[in-house]
Amino acid sequence: MDEFRYQHGVLHCEAVPAADLARLAGTPCYVYSQSTLTQHFERLRDAFAPLSPLLCYSVKCCSNLAILRHLVSLGSGMDVVSGGELQRARLAGCDPAKIVYAGVGKSDEEIRLALTERIGLFNIESEMEFENLSRIAKEMGLKTSAALRVNPDVDPKTHRYTTTGKRESKFGVDLERAEAFFAKYGHDPMVSLRGIHLHIGSPVYSTAPYLESVEKALRLMDALAERGITITTLDLGGGFGADYESDQSPLAIDYAQTIVPLLAGRCTGSSPLRVILEPGRTIAANAGILLTRVEYVKQSGDRTFAICDAGMHSLLRPSHYGAFHFVWPVAPGESMVPPRRARELVMPGLVRTEVVGPLCETGDFLAEDRLLPTVARGDLLAVYTAGAYGMTMASRYNSHPLPAEVLVNGTTATIIRRRESFADLIAHEVS
Ligand code: LLP
Repeated sequence: MDEFRYQHGVLHCEAVPAADLARLAGTPCYVYSQSTLTQHFERLRDAFAPLSPLLCYSVKCCSNLAILRHLVSLGSGMDVVSGGELQRARLAGCDPAKIVYAGVGKSDEEIRLALTERIGLFNIESEMEFENLSRIAKEMGLKTSAALRVNPDVDPKTHRYTTTGKRESKFGVDLERAEAFFAKYGHDPMVSLRGIHLHIGSPVYSTAPYLESVEKALRLMDALAERGITITTLDLGGGFGADYESDQSPLAIDYAQTIVPLLAGRCTGSSPLRVILEPGRTIAANAGILLTRVEYVKQSGDRTFAICDAGMHSLLRPSHYGAFHFVWPVAPGESMVPPRRARELVMPGLVRTEVVGPLCETGDFLAEDRLLPTVARGDLLAVYTAGAYGMTMASRYNSHPLPAEVLVNGTTATIIRRRESFADLIAHEVS
């Protein structure tokens, strides 16, 4: 379900050959398909339509202003986790009422900024944070709204680094403490605490953990109602999967079929529950690829290395999480077009290849032990499903400038972030 397709043996993003994009922006570069972003946003919106949720795109996954502007034009709100993301969202024209702000370590300065901007919702992660928000709101004379991030102790069965809704994680407040939290802070004069926020992990490849966590949240809501505290907002967070391999992830409609029936009854009537979703990866991941050029090919022992100009500094996920990203040449020829994106493709003429970067670390790889068509110096490779947590986690390690970013819309390609120069690299150093 994306617009990166081979035509006559050559990869295109929408109607533009990938090689043209590499010429336009140089490599490494991130390439995004606008129409894929639109389709992914709309399929989630349509799947959850019975709940009329507010979709708050998770800025952290791909935060280029052009991408944010496009999502704002589709009606999206934004989920932010820092003052920087908040300013990006505002600069992209997002209505502040549609901005939700999570994060365990909001600084006083960031809280002041968010209050000044009159954002829609603070997602609160601890007692101390709530008290701090209330204090600052009072000082500034600005009232606001908040949801309590509840830790439902549900296992999302994903990488431990991105498991967030299990007890012992640093996120949210344990379910057992939540009632007491609302009893203590639920009548604060400055901060109206009438929401529950969940975000259990990312990516979540089955619907069962959502079922479990929403059921727990509903039990909490009912217990609070008995104490006279009405919850008006339920923010379910993000975590919906993406297809790193073809057909790996449930569809938006699958997640919706699990979640909608639990909430539909509460989203109608005179005071309907407001539902918020914070999708990131499911919108952006398959809307982006990383283009990289092979600098050298070499043998070492019995292994073949394709040494590329992108590496862990351009896309950290393989190295950091052991994440799988499908990699394939941009111009393999008609007979070598991959039938699907999978770990092992059985096709004649493939060679076991290590796709690595230029950095001085053995952990600097994009793909380990992959069967690929023979690659040569100068070939372009596409690293797929790189639109989420790609560019936003890139670094300048080994003093490599950050990659360029290109947005394609039909036949038009626009550079939305220029490649950094050496001057950019040292711009903040003093002397
Ligand atoms: N809401 C909250 C509160 C979050 O912490 C996150 C992601 C999201 C929404 C969006 O989740 P998504 O829909 O994108 O799954 N760097 C990791 C992923 C970290 C996710 C952090 N929080 C990776 O590359 O897999």
